Amino acid sequence: MWPEGVNPKTVLYGTGAVGGAVAAAAGIYSYMYPYAFRDRHQVRLELAIIEKFTNIIMSGGTVLSQFAEAVRRHPDKPFLLFGTEAHTYGEVDAMANRVANFFHGMGFQKGDTVALLIYNEPAFIWTFLGLARVGVKMALLNTNLRGQALMHCFRVAGATGLIVGQGQPLLDATLELMPELQAEGATIWLQGSAHPPAGLSAWDGPVQRESDQPLTVQVTITPADTLCYIYTSGTTGLPKAAIIPHTKFIIGGNSLLLIQGFTSEDVLYVTLPLYHSSGLMLGIGTTISKGATVALRRKFSAHHFWEDCRHYNATVIIYIGELLRYLCTLPERPDDKDHKVRLAFGNGLRPDIWKQFQDRFGIPRIGEFYAMTEGNVGLTNISNKVGAVGVYSPMYRKYRPSSVIECDIDTGEPIRGKDGWCKEVKIGQPGLLVGPTDPAVPYIGYLGKPELTQRKILRDVFREGDAYFSTGDLMVFDKEYFIYFVDRVGDTFRWKGENVATTEVAQVLSKMEGVQEVNVYGVKVPGQDGRAGMASIIPLPGQQPDFRRWYRYITEKLPTYAQPLFLRLTQEIQVTGTFKHQKAALVKEGFDPRRVADPLFVIDNGRKTYVPLDDTVYRRIVVGHARL
Ligand SMILES: *[C@@H]1O[C@H](CO)[C@@H](O)[C@H](O)[C@H]1NC(C)=O
Ligand SMILES: *[C@@H]1O[C@H](CO)[C@@H](O)[C@H](O)[C@H]1NC(C)=O
Repeated sequence: MWPEGVNPKTVLYGTGAVGGAVAAAAGIYSYMYPYAFRDRHQVRLELAIIEKFTNIIMSGGTVLSQFAEAVRRHPDKPFLLFGTEAHTYGEVDAMANRVANFFHGMGFQKGDTVALLIYNEPAFIWTFLGLARVGVKMALLNTNLRGQALMHCFRVAGATGLIVGQGQPLLDATLELMPELQAEGATIWLQGSAHPPAGLSAWDGPVQRESDQPLTVQVTITPADTLCYIYTSGTTGLPKAAIIPHTKFIIGGNSLLLIQGFTSEDVLYVTLPLYHSSGLMLGIGTTISKGATVALRRKFSAHHFWEDCRHYNATVIIYIGELLRYLCTLPERPDDKDHKVRLAFGNGLRPDIWKQFQDRFGIPRIGEFYAMTEGNVGLTNISNKVGAVGVYSPMYRKYRPSSVIECDIDTGEPIRGKDGWCKEVKIGQPGLLVGPTDPAVPYIGYLGKPELTQRKILRDVFREGDAYFSTGDLMVFDKEYFIYFVDRVGDTFRWKGENVATTEVAQVLSKMEGVQEVNVYGVKVPGQDGRAGMASIIPLPGQQPDFRRWYRYITEKLPTYAQPLFLRLTQEIQVTGTFKHQKAALVKEGFDPRRVADPLFVIDNGRKTYVPLDDTVYRRIVVGHARL
């Protein structure tokens, strides 16, 4: 994380004693500012955590050394729980050694890249740790991706091997791409099968036969080395690979410790996918850094959630907002509070669900945070304030700088004043969250062309020569200086916890038969988080849309979260002054047939087609009776 030659301690703390400075500042502030105590508490906690992970990084710590430390402390303690399986730290260590010996024996070396397409299960973890020991970088593929999007992710990482986990859908996705994968010269292993189909190599037998002792060669892994790639949809184009060095994993894996009281006795229940930052770094990273226990489930299931928590005696869960919303839609049961979960940690929890979730399931603490896989801005509400993601007071920002600036609410474009500089927003006014890209909080960016990284940097924001990373998120702060997430702006929207790039979906839809032009955007659905995909389509003149065919094409080419749920057939698409598709008006009109004169259609997964969306269907969706 730190560029060479930069001492993070100096940068983060300056030269003075921070604790004293914070206390003094709080003393002065408290005369005119009643929240000084809260802010001092927050700053102190955060600086303590920063100091902790800085020390780990400065002394050469990596995920491997943190794991080795946990193994040394308690080899016989359960590390992974999965169904009826329990694997101790020692056992996972031995399995990771087998994986490391296997790859080393195959000639893989530090700097090579292998892609993983594995659901949440124990094999994910020991494969991950084993490859890390050889210094092989891992491309963590999203298990929902199919076809060209999946192939793209494999290709941009420069991977020479692919490890496919258990589960028929993953095998199907791989078989579909066999010719292309083979053209890339990739070796493909299939876990959990003694007799894989032609073109794939068996994994379990050969790996089991390896020694469970550490590698006999010395591989030097430093904190700055790349551990893995995590894919984000970014704002334009296909998924981008964000580079995750060991440092970032250490930081992610230690930040949950902000919520004090997390101990090695805790059992963390993780249903968020391990190919995303939250599942991997908060889930696995935190467990490893504390030597705790993690219970895994292949995929999130609302119906099995509490049953699992009881079964595993889970004490901590990590979430994205949508997940808790699904849990709240379950029919109430007398045993709703019958579990040991005392802390939920995650992001995207909206105020309407926060209280409901907390009261109904009796969760004492909720820790909401805001961070981006590829970004450099982090906020955490460690104070249980309903809905807030953190604090944004002048005092806090002295230590943890970020700014919310005036922008066009639809496009996210910063609005500059007459003098050419950006302006910070006032209380209650939504704006774009940006973070300075100074060397203390560097922005590592994406693999590939530098433009991918540069596009997210704003320059000359408050003064000549400065540079800020744009989060693409709208935030608002209140008079107590609590800060809240409002919405995403620009060319992406969030649905089912995934970022969807509208241009990418539009690209796919524009190749559909009978389509002349298409404009993709996200629309609000009452009672649901994020925005559902909608496409406004101009059909080719003289052609009737074949909705069954469109449905088949869309579901084949796009992962579920990116499929447009609503279609709007239209005759013209408005463009902006710079010939971009106009979206704001369409977003506002949404899928309400009373406001839209064009014919509207909604996806029908039962009948595998799109069906007309009239008043009755609309009402069923709005009251939550129609499943989306
Ligand atoms: C959960 O706790 C109960 C009671 O302490 C215990 O009997 C059970 O074995 C625990 N479950 C697991 C999976 O450890
Ligand atoms: C967020 O802030 C509120 C208000 O101070 C506090 O009660 C709550 O515990 C905070 N959440 C966390 C995780 O600190």
